[in-house]
Amino acid sequence: MTAAAQRPNPRNPEPGGPILRIAGLNAHIAGQQVVEDVSFTVPATGITALLGRNGVGKTSTIKAIIGLIDRTGEVELDGVRVEKEPTYKIIRSGVGYVPEDREVFSKLTVAENLRLAERDAAPRRQLVEELFPDLLARAGQMAGTLSGGQQQMVSLARALLNTNKVLLVDEPTKGLAPKIVAEVAETLAEAAKTVPILLVEQNLQVVRRLAEGAVVLSGGRVVHTGNALEFLDDDGLTQRLLGVSTEGAAHDAAPRHQTAAAHEKGAAL
Ligand SMILES: Nc1ncnc2c1ncn2[C@@H]1O[C@H](COP(=O)(O)OP(=O)(O)OP(=O)(O)O)[C@@H](O)[C@H]1O
Ligand SMILES: [Mg+2]
Repeated sequence: MTAAAQRPNPRNPEPGGPILRIAGLNAHIAGQQVVEDVSFTVPATGITALLGRNGVGKTSTIKAIIGLIDRTGEVELDGVRVEKEPTYKIIRSGVGYVPEDREVFSKLTVAENLRLAERDAAPRRQLVEELFPDLLARAGQMAGTLSGGQQQMVSLARALLNTNKVLLVDEPTKGLAPKIVAEVAETLAEAAKTVPILLVEQNLQVVRRLAEGAVVLSGGRVVHTGNALEFLDDDGLTQRLLGVSTEGAAHDAAPRHQTAAAHEKGAAL
């Protein structure tokens, strides 16, 4: 192979372009199309929320981006097309993935979980120690004995140890107590100062607090993109696309700890 053939695709010529560009993404699971012609971009700064009711294809979209499920379409990371690359190469190109169910190694200690995640020659241990002092104190504890919130912190810490171009974070507050939801949100806000994030999140107060942009899915398709606050302030739109009313919701920074699904059922968490 010649040196020219080994060179990556030309980089995005536009300065200030998106860090992630998805175009015409399609994916199937068990013969069912779960992602259909999905196109959106993630800006190079801040948090972009990927929203939608249960089962609309948020997780599948994230998995399709990094090739964890079969897909067709374009995936461009920092101006370089990566959809033909295997998952491990996409991850090594600078994509941090924080999966929906945390997926910590329960029989390994916190320290071992973190050590296994180190990809860079100079992992950002200091940043992680500053962001997660509680994990430092629990370095020798088996990850399986941690609370859900602590396991979420391990999962986030693993992604933050490496210098990534973008983080894909899938429902980090799911199933957590309100106080812990606030802590995770605070950590994500801090993390977003160092790396852009595509965030799947059903807690709309967390979305309100963190997200600048919003991409909304329904039935595997993109049905809305735009400013997150404008979307959340449009009660008719959130009602139609998420099945929840945001009317009267607190506009302050503190999350109100209510998921879309819970809100729909009228249940406070
Ligand atoms: N392993 C699987 N086998 C069969 N069907 C699946 C599988 N994983 C997902 N699906 C289906 O694919 C569709 C999209 O699921 P996906 O998990 O991407 O949705 P989601 O928006 O992340 O949902 P949630 O809000 O519950 O996390 C759903 O209809 C789901 O039932
Ligand atoms: Mg999901």
